[in-house]
Amino acid sequence: MLEVKNLTKYYGDLLAVDELSFRIEEGQFATLLGPSGCGKSTTLHVIAGLIDATSGSVHLRGKEVSDVPPYERNIGLVFQHSALFPHMTVEENLRYGLKMQDFDGDHDRQIEKYLEMVQMLEHADHKPDELSGGQQRRISFARALVYEPDILLLDEPLTGLDRVLREDMRNEIRSIQQEVDVTTLHVTHDQSEALSMSDQVIVMNEGRKEQEGHPTELYEQPKTEFVAEFLGQSTKFEGELVDANTPVIRSGSREIHIETNGDTEAVAGDDISTYIRPEEIDVHPTPQANGDTNTFSGRITDVEYLGHRAELEIELDDGTKVIAFSQTSDDLSVGKEVSVQFDPDKVICV
Ligand SMILES: Nc1ncnc2c1ncn2[C@@H]1O[C@H](COP(=O)(O)OP(=O)(O)O)[C@@H](O)[C@H]1O
Ligand SMILES: [Mg+2]
Repeated sequence: MLEVKNLTKYYGDLLAVDELSFRIEEGQFATLLGPSGCGKSTTLHVIAGLIDATSGSVHLRGKEVSDVPPYERNIGLVFQHSALFPHMTVEENLRYGLKMQDFDGDHDRQIEKYLEMVQMLEHADHKPDELSGGQQRRISFARALVYEPDILLLDEPLTGLDRVLREDMRNEIRSIQQEVDVTTLHVTHDQSEALSMSDQVIVMNEGRKEQEGHPTELYEQPKTEFVAEFLGQSTKFEGELVDANTPVIRSGSREIHIETNGDTEAVAGDDISTYIRPEEIDVHPTPQANGDTNTFSGRITDVEYLGHRAELEIELDDGTKVIAFSQTSDDLSVGKEVSVQFDPDKVICV
């Protein structure tokens, strides 16, 4: 449905997007995820035809669109702080979109259908300033979908809403997207938003693609330090591979046992970063022998109660800080001596 090939964009001397390529299949919900300034909005604007690429191309339904003006690309847009026309009612806002896109079909029916979908039918006669922030956002979605675009582009569409509303709207956007079955490219810097909503995530850093894949694949098998650190929490141990046949990383005075699936090209002496997710770490309330596999003693330095679980910070004997989760029923408090343990096959190696 959408393919971006070797997209590069310079603003003067500044390289904003660097040889970016990806494709999105029909009906998929894809997210460009990356820190602020990594080139996400620039990419979206090029796809929408609002700015020109320096080089590279955009293809919609297999057809190159670089010379097609924005209004002929049949794209729906919801941008950060997307503004509705303030002098128009909700209904008129949607009608305007249908008219601009020259929608061939019953305009009244479309407006009713999409206002109903976002649960705003009863507000059809209201002006935008009579609506809450969340309601305005719903209208922005309805306005982007009402003319049945081939592809929906969402640029940080939940920015500015409070946390609870953001989480509700994530689910709602996702279910509307599935109902309408519209191919969607979403942009966010919020990793939990990306992981929870998407079929496919493209992680960007400094204008380049770091890695792409299904959310679980990115979380469980990050291929770069950037992806491992940007998605989710983890404890990092840096070290070097002892020898290629012995899956052990020496990190200071510590040995981290890992599991290799045989296809590693690492050789003895290679620097390797290992990451362990907090949910993969067992915390034992009684210190265990330091000689056991991936078992290290330390002391709890922080406990953050999160309702269903607690997040612990544990300082190991050499000062390394470990982040682990525990059940809140466990008797674990600051100052307590504990040991942490994790399985070799849970260690992510980058
Ligand atoms: N119109 C512009 N003129 C000059 N530089 C820009 C312009 N728009 C964005 N940039 C720069 O390009 C880089 C990428 O910006 P942007 O695509 O907005 O990133 P993101 O959406 O990921 O935060 C940033 O360094 C930003 O400052
Ligand atoms: Mg942006």
